[in-house]
Amino acid sequence: MNTSKPTVARTAVRIVEVGPRDGLQNEPANLPLDAKRELIERLARAGLREIEAGAFVSPKHIPQMADSGPLLRLLRSEPERLAGVRLPVLTPNLQGYTAAVEAGADHVAVFAAASETFSQKNINCSIDESLRRFEPVLAAARAARIRVRGYLSCVVACPYEGAIAPATVAALAAELMNMGCSEISLGDTIGVGTPGTVLPMLEAVARLVPLKQLGGHFHDTYGMAVTNCYAAYEFGVRTFDASVAGLGGCPYAPGASGNVATEDLVYLFEGLGASTGVDLDALVECGSWVCAQLGRPSSSRVAASRIARRAGDAAA
Ligand code: HMG
Ligand code: MG
Repeated sequence: MNTSKPTVARTAVRIVEVGPRDGLQNEPANLPLDAKRELIERLARAGLREIEAGAFVSPKHIPQMADSGPLLRLLRSEPERLAGVRLPVLTPNLQGYTAAVEAGADHVAVFAAASETFSQKNINCSIDESLRRFEPVLAAARAARIRVRGYLSCVVACPYEGAIAPATVAALAAELMNMGCSEISLGDTIGVGTPGTVLPMLEAVARLVPLKQLGGHFHDTYGMAVTNCYAAYEFGVRTFDASVAGLGGCPYAPGASGNVATEDLVYLFEGLGASTGVDLDALVECGSWVCAQLGRPSSSRVAASRIARRAGDAAA
């Protein structure tokens, strides 16, 4: 039941589910391969059509993503189970890109940061070096007709450098687009933004990159992620990243919590009359299942309330 019935139909939104990557990369418990496959299939059954499946990064840095190759191969072995579902993966350099394509990837993402210190901590190079590393990835992807998403981290603030200037974010977003990225996902990596900082950043970026090629990627550390998604929607953004049950965080942003919970985002947008294509009940079920696998509670307020109501109904 959605208790906030929409009165006006709004433009649909596109939700990119990043739980199996951004979520699981920062969970202390590592899900076995079969459980990762089941998570992705459950998300697909709930209606998600873009599910970030893993990351081809150094296993020494992010051990939780070490089985991304076998996982992608497993998912590709029975394509009918995920028909119509895109499974993008992170590829920080040509080595990662090559391994991803060998495992069957046909959508990839490069990731840069708007903060020098974060770039060094996250991918062990300067911002400029990171862009040079992406050049061969983008060239190879162009030749293979593979779509490359560009992530930009710390678009509002950096855990090491503090506030980041909107002009810095805009210039980097434009550069990634010029290099051949198909869209830019703007990451409030540490979840400290409010509409007061997110909107000036969006205004600066939207002067250089069309809105339809921008996505919002809001972590929820300060509980502002849903608010920021709403503000970005009103501004004209229609692509949002989210993580089922609000799993995760960022290994190089101490204290940062997971992405906005997909359940909460679906409730928000369906409440607004902006279709998401996602079945909220099936998604809540999926979130409960993965939380049980990981031995952790859900960070989704919507899921917690639905589960409590169901338990109350069962007890009555
Ligand atoms: P590096 O140390 O600079 O690389 O790593 P290198 O070229 O000097 O190589 C060193 C070793 O790494 C070598 O292995 C390479 O083979 C290996 P060794 O000889 O020592 O055994 N290596 C790789 N192994 C697997 N896959 C690769 C790869 N490249 C080199 N692709 C690298 C650079 C980027 C790989 C490393 O720093 C790394 O893996 N960092 C982790 C980055 C990461 O996954 N961060 C989290 C995701 S980003 C994020 O969460 C933010 C986002 O959600 C948006 C937001 O919220 O803001 C996207
Ligand atoms: Mg993230």
